[in-house]
Amino acid sequence: MCGIVAYIGNQQAQPIVIKGLKRLEYRGYDSTGISSHDEESLHTLKTAGKVSDLEAIIATVPANTATVALGHTRWATHGVPNDVNAHPQTSNSGNLVIVHNGIIENYASLKKELQHRGFTFQSDTDTEVLINLIQDVQDKENVKLGKAVQIALSQVIGAYAIVVFDRRKPNELVAARLGSPLAIGIGDEEFFVASDATPFIEYTKNVIYLEEEHLAIIRRNKAIKIRKIEDDLEVEPYVEKLQLSLENIQKGGYDHFMLKEIFEQPKAIQDTLRGRLLSQEGVITLSSLREHENRFLKAKRILIVACGTSWHAGLVAEYLIEDFTRIPVEVEYASEFRYRNPIIYPDDVVIAISQSGETADTIAAINIAKEKGAFVYGICNVVGSTISRITHTGCYTHAGPEIGVASTKAFTTQITVIALIGLYLGKANGTLSRSQYQEYVTELESLPNKVESIFASQTYIEEVAASFETSQNCIYLGRGYNFPVALEGALKLKEISYIHAEGYPAAEMKHGPIALIDKEMPVVVIATKKGYYEKVVSNIQEIKSREGRIIAIVSKGDTQVKELADYCIEIPDSSESFAPILSTIPLQLLSYYIAVQRGCNVDQPRNLAKSVTVE
Ligand code: AGP
Repeated sequence: MCGIVAYIGNQQAQPIVIKGLKRLEYRGYDSTGISSHDEESLHTLKTAGKVSDLEAIIATVPANTATVALGHTRWATHGVPNDVNAHPQTSNSGNLVIVHNGIIENYASLKKELQHRGFTFQSDTDTEVLINLIQDVQDKENVKLGKAVQIALSQVIGAYAIVVFDRRKPNELVAARLGSPLAIGIGDEEFFVASDATPFIEYTKNVIYLEEEHLAIIRRNKAIKIRKIEDDLEVEPYVEKLQLSLENIQKGGYDHFMLKEIFEQPKAIQDTLRGRLLSQEGVITLSSLREHENRFLKAKRILIVACGTSWHAGLVAEYLIEDFTRIPVEVEYASEFRYRNPIIYPDDVVIAISQSGETADTIAAINIAKEKGAFVYGICNVVGSTISRITHTGCYTHAGPEIGVASTKAFTTQITVIALIGLYLGKANGTLSRSQYQEYVTELESLPNKVESIFASQTYIEEVAASFETSQNCIYLGRGYNFPVALEGALKLKEISYIHAEGYPAAEMKHGPIALIDKEMPVVVIATKKGYYEKVVSNIQEIKSREGRIIAIVSKGDTQVKELADYCIEIPDSSESFAPILSTIPLQLLSYYIAVQRGCNVDQPRNLAKSVTVE
């Protein structure tokens, strides 16, 4: 996600845009910039870093009185965060300027065509391709900016929210969206365009939430025009009255960032698959994997190093990659790995998993693995983070910024990337038959909708949470692929509600932990239909006979466990390999509601930091 703010009207634009960008930094904060036009020339200032870094640069240049400006705070997807890749991006002519939120999937082919037509590129961004495509259309078709944008966007595949400005027409802005939000504030002889309404909430309550595939032509002191990108037909703008508070809007109307990020998971998974999973063609494209395919296929083993939730994703990876490729996988706590003088063979492949890309223990583990000759592949959520730079190559989860300390969408998108890797390698080394591969590819594409369907249980899960409010302990059980999910569910509960919780392989109960069971001990059991279902049912019976209170995560339509458990939360059926992406969702919601009911600070739990950059 990135933050976009634009202004055109009768006030000085720069302070309005800068203040608005600060309010959007929850959407991305790795680089930023602003372009403003003061009737004579276009001033563009850009930098890696936060909006405060941009303000420091602005303080060193003469103030400008421009009344039109575009600003952007970036969460990089293409091109590392630096001054050149920061937005706004400018076309070759220097006349057109754009700010963009989203991913242009076919930017590489568009870039090649534009290069053939003599265009040159300074940045690594897909956005610079888009603004030059718009210039190319305008030059060839000799049309107005709005028409040029509409024609250019009809050639684009992907998601975008954009605002475009032509320095030769300083009284007009053009905005458009597909897959990423844009709000247009209608003021008194002034207009605001932003990724949400927070940048202009104090200036106007009149807002147009631009609809999918709509384009807006915004002219100073004129009525706004809205057109459909597909056929250029004009539509009547629908102006709403803003109801939400500033804080509400930043959290998308949710009470906490964690809840917002739980509900963002369908889109986060979709964005992580976008441009990488072509299910119709049965193709998975991961350039970082393709370029080093042999390293993986020749590996005697794959070592995974990570911490916390990312380590749990690594445990899922062990099951999935071994299933799909028969390459042995070992998962290590990075904090242990770094100190025990690990044995590393030159043909080992190490996968480092980290949402922040800044976890000190994981960085140390990577450096040790590299010193010992291993090839290191990174899976990160933050473009340009330390881990993304020190690993030999890697892949990003496109989950967008994860603000809540408790990791949610990072976990499910990490598993999504792991699934892509497992499928790619399993097909390449022949472990997966063509039909198996195609079945998994088709199912992977269906996961965002399956995750979405689980949210229907939100109210029920909130009710179940109420029965935990006074609990001091909790046990989570799972088998196979769901064992790491049991660990992850326990971690979620611990870190935001401060209830002591432990995750175990369900079969491990008889080796000691079952002594803990009594009517005060709630037990969360993941009992989805696949794999070890009958054995998990037996475990539930053992707990039931000792008066344990059972909350079960079951496959839709389950009847057997429903007879035994005190509470049952249904999730869609899936292959065992993809069950973790679904079974973790109810556990995220359960821990969230328990923590809220206990009055805990869900987004910033005590003693915790979002990224553990120290030992
Ligand atoms: C997860 O909810 C925690 N916030 C924590 O365990 C986290 O997963 C761990 O610190 C690793 O962080 P990373 O993924 O950024 O490396």
